[in-house]
Amino acid sequence: MTPTLAADRKAPRKRVLSGMRPTGPLHVGNLIGALETWVALQDEFECFFSIVDWHALTTDYAAPAGLNDYVREVALDWLAAGLDPQRSTIFVQSEVKEHAELHLLLSMIVPLGWLYRVPTYKEQLKELVGREIETYGFLGYPVLQAADILAYRAEVVPVGEDQVPHLELTREIARRFNGLYGTLFPEPEARLRVVSRLPGLDGRKMSKSYGNAIGIAEDLDSARKRIATMVTDPARKRRGDPGDPDVCPVFPYHRVLSSPGQIAWVEAGCRGATIGCLECKSVMAENLAERLGPIQARRAEYAGHPEKIREILGDGAAAARRAASETLDLVRHAMGLK
Ligand code: TRP
Ligand code: SF4
Repeated sequence: MTPTLAADRKAPRKRVLSGMRPTGPLHVGNLIGALETWVALQDEFECFFSIVDWHALTTDYAAPAGLNDYVREVALDWLAAGLDPQRSTIFVQSEVKEHAELHLLLSMIVPLGWLYRVPTYKEQLKELVGREIETYGFLGYPVLQAADILAYRAEVVPVGEDQVPHLELTREIARRFNGLYGTLFPEPEARLRVVSRLPGLDGRKMSKSYGNAIGIAEDLDSARKRIATMVTDPARKRRGDPGDPDVCPVFPYHRVLSSPGQIAWVEAGCRGATIGCLECKSVMAENLAERLGPIQARRAEYAGHPEKIREILGDGAAAARRAASETLDLVRHAMGLK
């Protein structure tokens, strides 16, 4: 694929890169927090979006069954949400070996202390007990992430708050490289999502492993039923008890799904105990169904054409390889390799 006509005409756009680990089908938190932001960036930037399967292996190496299916599920969710292969490069990390080469070369210049200091490293070691992730690969997770970003000399990286330390490390690596070998890499900045995180149905952090997530592809009737059982402000035991939307897990959904009129109706009705929680939730559930409807239709269309997905990911990997190999030529040269 040659660059689009639009790209030929305009000055080169800044590059965006982001990635997600393929650990299963995505949920509405991923959609509203991340994917919708990515979709919007496609107009302004040259975007690369990677399904980072090597990153999934850093924690799940012992049980890789399903990885391939998950890659396909994530690709479906991405395309359904509106990532557009005409405008963005959508690819699987392990199909672009330049990421591995850059990871190796960067590993030469990354002091171990930097890696032990990354807060997510210690947290994950504690959280994923029993998975034996005191491995070389897992310690190097953020170096691989830096390679993902720097391979494209991306300047903007849309991520959640939790990824800020990884971006900080990426910038440190870029700085060190530039200091040692001459300036080659821009220091990428994190573009944090503007909408706050959606809680899970039980009020905890939304996570597949908690069983409290609403899937992007979930049957809408099942979603409606599960939303009806969702946790609310515990102060509202009865309909006559006033509540506080600011402590209720349902309200953040209204904020991102409902009209200003509906939001005002919830705030007044909850505080004044003039609406019931079921009523409140069913308005939210309908708005969610409306949002998911077209996405699920698009998903079903792509799901019926697996060869189309293969083609999109194949073209994406070829385009990504072209861009990354330009960087790798410069990196090899800078590091004294032919
Ligand atoms: N570590 C990121 C996460 O868990 C995933 C990721 C891998 C990523 N490589 C990336 C995100 C490059 C942004 C850019 O969410
Ligand atoms: Fe939550 Fe709505 Fe019930 Fe208020 S009325 S507690 S916002 S579900």
